[in-house]
Amino acid sequence: MDAVEVLKTRRSVRAFTREPVAKEVIEDIVDCGRLAATAVNIQPWEFVVVTDTEMRRRIARTTDYGKFIADAPVCVVVLCRETKFYLEDGSAATENILLAARAHGLGSCWVAGDKKSYSAEICRLVGAPPSYKLVSLIPIGYSTESPEKAKRPLPDVLHWEKY
Ligand SMILES: Cc1cc2nc3c(=O)[nH]c(=O)nc-3n(C[C@H](O)[C@H](O)[C@H](O)COP(=O)(O)O)c2cc1C
Repeated sequence: MDAVEVLKTRRSVRAFTREPVAKEVIEDIVDCGRLAATAVNIQPWEFVVVTDTEMRRRIARTTDYGKFIADAPVCVVVLCRETKFYLEDGSAATENILLAARAHGLGSCWVAGDKKSYSAEICRLVGAPPSYKLVSLIPIGYSTESPEKAKRPLPDVLHWEKY
């Protein structure tokens, strides 16, 4: 799949097989997160890869709309040091990870972290230092579904020269 096809075919996946994901594949996916655009090249991120079943279950239980984290073999926890643009930086890294997962033939979903009431509890669960914020949780695995989502058509959102 070329890069544009990866971008255009990525969809949120919330159902996974039990098949484990190879360590090198997970490392490559996180490496793509590491290389995301970041304001003033600060790179405030840290990525915690959770494969332990009990820990994934605890994380899943703590969330509201992320219960399916328990069913994915991997969950990447995206943390950022609280800098001025931590949310933009962490979001860019999150999107890179979603796209890299897709390029590796894996499904994933962005589960909210920032601004959620459970974010401090998840930071505590994964042992994040006090000044770190939870940006997102990303369950990753081989998909058992091919979800489609209605998208706004290009002519509705594309404005040439002026709105
Ligand atoms: C900031 C953000 C937070 C999200 N949080 C959740 C979440 O907590 N649980 C969930 O199932 N999906 C979550 N999503 C995924 C969206 O529901 C999904 O991207 C949207 O419905 C569009 O579908 P698509 O990703 O398949 O294109 C989140 C996405 C973003 C960008």
